[in-house]
Amino acid sequence: MALDEFVAELNELADTAAESFSQAADATSLESLRVKILGAKSGQLKSAQQGLGRMDSADKPLAGKHFNQTKKRVEAAYQAAKTRLRAASSTQAASSFDATEPGCRPRIGHLHPITQTIQELKDIFGRLGFSVAEGPEIEDERHNFDALNIDRSHPARDPLDNFYLHASSDGIATDGENNMEVALESPWLLRSQTSTVQIRVMEENPPPIRIVSLGRVYRPDTADATHYPMFHQIEGLLVDTDVTLADLKTVLRIFCSSYLGEDVSVRFRPSFFPFTEPSVEVDMQWGDGWVEMGGAGMVDPNVFRAVGYDPEQVTGFAFGLGVERLCARRFGITDIREFFKNDIRFLKQF
Ligand code: DAH
Repeated sequence: MALDEFVAELNELADTAAESFSQAADATSLESLRVKILGAKSGQLKSAQQGLGRMDSADKPLAGKHFNQTKKRVEAAYQAAKTRLRAASSTQAASSFDATEPGCRPRIGHLHPITQTIQELKDIFGRLGFSVAEGPEIEDERHNFDALNIDRSHPARDPLDNFYLHASSDGIATDGENNMEVALESPWLLRSQTSTVQIRVMEENPPPIRIVSLGRVYRPDTADATHYPMFHQIEGLLVDTDVTLADLKTVLRIFCSSYLGEDVSVRFRPSFFPFTEPSVEVDMQWGDGWVEMGGAGMVDPNVFRAVGYDPEQVTGFAFGLGVERLCARRFGITDIREFFKNDIRFLKQF
C-alpha cells in the first residue's frame, strides 16, 4: 500500500469520525459511534491500522507516526462530544427542578425574651403616660451615687461591689494607654442601678416629670440562679405637686395586673434607700408566696436639691424593678443564667 493512499484514507476516517461525534445527540448514540470507530476489536481505526502491515518497510515509520496522530485526533473528538453531552444533561436536570414541591422552611429568629419584656414594659407604662428616658451605662459618681444622696462613706460605693473603670478609690486613675496616673475628679464606673437616669432627666428638665428608663446595670456578683454580674432594671420617676405614696401603689398595682394578670397583687414592705423617704420593698405575688421585685419610695428632698428642684414645691415617687425577675415570674423561669447562655433550645420558646 502506498503511503499517500494510506494517509488519505486516515484523513478521511478522522474527518468523518469528528463530524459524527459532533452530531451525536445522546449518550447511547455516542457510545455506538465509539464502538464503531474506536472499538478495540473491529473499529474503523483498528482496521486502518492493519494497512500498516502491508506497507513498504521504508514508509513504515512515517505511516506509523501519521496513524498515531489520527488516533489522537479521533479520541479528542470523542472526548469533546462526551463533555458536550454531559453539560447538556446537567442543565436538563436543573430545568426539571419542581418549584411546587414543599421547600425547607428557613428558621427565622426573633427578639430575645428580655428585649421582648422591655418592649412590653415600655408599652404598659406608655399607656400610663410615662415616656422613655435613656442614660449611659458608663457613669460618674455624681449620677450613680452623690446626687442620689449616697454619701462618700456609704457601703454601696465599695470598690468590691462596683465595676470602677481605671480608678482607685482615692480618685487617682491609671490611663491605660499611656500608663500614667491621672487625677480624676470623679472616677467612672459601670452604673450599678438605673436610678442614675432619674438624676440625668431632672438635671435636663423642669418638673413635672413622668418617665421610665430600662437598661443594663452591672454588679460584681457571682452568677447563680438569682444573680448575674449584668442584669436589667426598669426605673420609674414621677415628679409633680402633691404626689403621694398612694399614687405609687396605684401605678405599680395597675402595672402588675397589666403585665402579670388581674389576680396578681402588689405588697409594700418598709425598707431603706438613700434616695427615697419613706422607702419600700416591692413584692409581687407568686403562687402562694411573694417575690421581691425591687424597691420604691417617695423621692428624698436631698435628691431634689441635688438637681436644683425645690423640695417645698414638688413631690414625687420613684421605683426600680428587676426586668429578669418580671420576665421570670411571667414565664416560670427559675434560673436567671438561662437568659444569657444563648442556648437556642431555650430561646426558641419565647
Ligand atoms: N436602685 C435600687 C437598686 O438598684 C432600686 C430602687 C429602689 C430604685 C428605690 C428606686 C427606688 O427608684 O425608689 O437596688
